[in-house]
Parts: sequence; structure tokens; C-alpha cells
Amino acid sequence: MNQQNFIIKGNIIYSKNKTELEIKEQACLICESGKCAGVYESLPEQYQNLPCMDYQDCLIIPGMTDLHVHAPQYSYRGLGMDMELIDWLNAHAFPEESKFADLEYAEKAYRIFVNDLVKSTTTRACIFGTLHKDATLLLMKLLEDAGMHAYVGKVNMDRNSPDILREESAEEASKITEQWILEAECFENVRQILTPRFIPSCSDELMREISRLQKKYELPMQSHLSENLGEIAWVQELCPESKFYGDAYDQFELFGGDCPTIMAHCVHSGEEEVELMKENNVFVAHCPQSNTNIASGIAPVRMYLEKDLKMGLGSDVAGGANLSIMRAMTDAIQCSKLRWRMYDQSQAPLKFEEAFYLATKGGGEFFGKVGSFEEGYEFDAVVLNDENLPHPQEISTKERLERIAYLGDDRNVLHKYIAGKSVK
Ligand code: GUN
Ligand code: FE
Repeated sequence: MNQQNFIIKGNIIYSKNKTELEIKEQACLICESGKCAGVYESLPEQYQNLPCMDYQDCLIIPGMTDLHVHAPQYSYRGLGMDMELIDWLNAHAFPEESKFADLEYAEKAYRIFVNDLVKSTTTRACIFGTLHKDATLLLMKLLEDAGMHAYVGKVNMDRNSPDILREESAEEASKITEQWILEAECFENVRQILTPRFIPSCSDELMREISRLQKKYELPMQSHLSENLGEIAWVQELCPESKFYGDAYDQFELFGGDCPTIMAHCVHSGEEEVELMKENNVFVAHCPQSNTNIASGIAPVRMYLEKDLKMGLGSDVAGGANLSIMRAMTDAIQCSKLRWRMYDQSQAPLKFEEAFYLATKGGGEFFGKVGSFEEGYEFDAVVLNDENLPHPQEISTKERLERIAYLGDDRNVLHKYIAGKSVK
């Protein structure tokens, strides 16, 4: 359905707030010029003539946001999950990412990634490419052609990696990054995001250049923060003048404030770091499956919710093996239970409603009014069919959603709309 104004009908679920769901059964969701114009149990007169797609007993939820994913790592997801971060980067991530110098290989790999992303509940994503300009532009084109909305970053890295995956110098990196920014202007729904890999990968000169480009083009940025204890100690050695890891970004004015920022992980952030994230509106991309697979730890998500930090969920493929944000929801709940049981009984585990909020409206906020069906929000909607998950008893609409999250997969995604356009 690609008209400007239309209706979809089904069992509609979205977040009323962080802890409660709004559930409207057999209701109509109105799309007007790509935006949500209301959810109605009985259709007002003014909409009676709009075309209506009736999804009958299906569930309709807002599109999900993957706040942190590495597209080039999709090829080796599920492999090498017996290492910690730095060894894993050297053994798996860097050798694989170096292959994206070859555009033919990049095209093969990125087509697989984009095809699978389209099939999922994800409508928006913040994506790391590799340091290669042309492969990153190709990824952006594939996403744009598929109808996805995304931020994509050409990765910057000029130290502490092998010759095959290191930019020549800060100056050269800056020049190529600026070319990439300009060439990527042609895309409409896929935007540039500055992407210094993490502090250990970027010299001070390179960070200064990224900061200069951030101001010149007013771009957002994404990176990694306080993921692994060894990494944090290494950052302190590399930047002895920094007060904490986040401060090493903040010194270059690349930590929120006027620079919209996503920091992946924040597993071991201290009090000062958390305060600065709060003050500067830095988004936390919580990536529970990755934090488990490469044994980074369990992020204090309850504390972040209590402090009202900006936060969403990330698959962090290939730290996470799974691209599904439904799966990230259940991983987040499970991890929060282990943290509560093993480590801090004052920090209650996440409720299903809270995980759903993070998957939809929490992460969606990085894109503006995204992740809800409230009026004025982007019309990102996912239609879920759970006929393949039969049950003998009566269950509620919320329970059906919960079962899809725990038991389902992409086969349950019947249809998907992004900003009012049908993409699946
Ligand atoms: N830190 C720096 N690079 C990476 C990466 O590719 N994955 C994860 N999980 N952490 C990182
Ligand atoms: Fe990552």
C-alpha cells in the first residue's frame, strides 16, 4: 500500500509510557503523509473514504530501532564467541572488515545483510560500515534502495590495528571522510553519522579532525564506550589526561550536547561518566547479547532507566549473533534478571513493557518522532502474524506479543511500513 493516506487495521500495541502498553484491539491506525494521525476503535467520519488494509487478527506494533550494528560483521555472526573484546577484534572483526576493500565482496556481503534487515522488525538502524569509503557508500545505496531509514558511518581508525585495516594518517583519513560525507549527500533516508571506532583506534589528531567535520557538517556521531574492563584500562593508558573513558571523547566535543551521540555498551560506566551522559543527552545503545557473547558484563540498565538516560537496544552484530531487536528485548530482560539475582537486588529486572519501550520509542528517539503511534510520529509499523505459534488456551493480545518476542522470528513479520511506505 503506497498511497499517501491510508488505514491499517488490526490489534494495535504501542508504549503508553516506559512501563505501560497501550493496546487497542481491532482498531484503525491512520497514515497521513507518512505520519501517524491517530488510532481509532471506531473510525471518525473524515476517514471513512480512505483505503483500508485489514490485517484481521494480526498484531500491529511500531517499527523497532537497532541503535548499534556492524554491517560488515554480519558475515561471521555466531563465530568466535569464545574470546573477549580486544582478542575478538584482532582475530575476527579486523580480518573480515579488511575484505571490504574489495567492492565485489562488499556487495555480496552487504546484500545479504540488507535483505535480512528488511525481513526483520527493524525499521531504523544506526550502522557501522568499515573504513572503506566506496564500500560504505554501496551499503548506503543498498539500504536506501530497500526503503530502510538509517544512519551509516564510514569507520575511522588510524592506530592499533593491522596494516590491512588502518587509515594512513589522520590527515588522509579526514580527507577521505569529508569526500564520503559529500558523496553521501545524494541519499534521502540514509544519512551520514561520524564513526570513530573507539578511542584505542583513533589518534588525538584524528579525533580533532572528526570534531572539526562534526561542527562543519553538523553531523551526529556513534562509537563504543566502557564495554570491557581491559579496554577501559587501555584507554586510561592511551589518554592519561582523561578523567574517565567518556571524557576522552568529551575533550574533543564528541560526547553529546551539540553533537547527537550514541555510545554502545556502557557496561562499566562510573558515576561521573553516567552524569555526563545524562547532562549531554548521550544515547546508550544497550547490547545485551554482545555483552554476554564476548563476556563484557551486564550493563546497569535499571539504573539508566531510573536516571532517565536516553537509551535503546542494539544487536551489535557480530558481538551479538542475532540481528533481531525482538531477541535483543528478551536478552535485555534475561540479562537484567541475572544482574539483579547475582549482583544487586536493589535493581529490579526489566519488565517486558520496558524492553518493548527501549526497542521502539527509546531507540527511535534518536531519529526524532519514531517508535510510537501517537499523533505526529513517523508511520513506522510492523504487522505480526503468529499463526505458526499455536496454543490451546485463550491468551491476551499482550501475551501474543510476548510469545512472538520469545518464540518467534522473521517469519512472523508479515508486513512492514517505514514513514508510510511499504517495504516488505
Ligand atoms: N569496540 C571497537 N570495535 C568494536 C566492534 O567492532 N565491536 C564491539 N562490540 N566493540 C568494539
Ligand atoms: Fe559494536
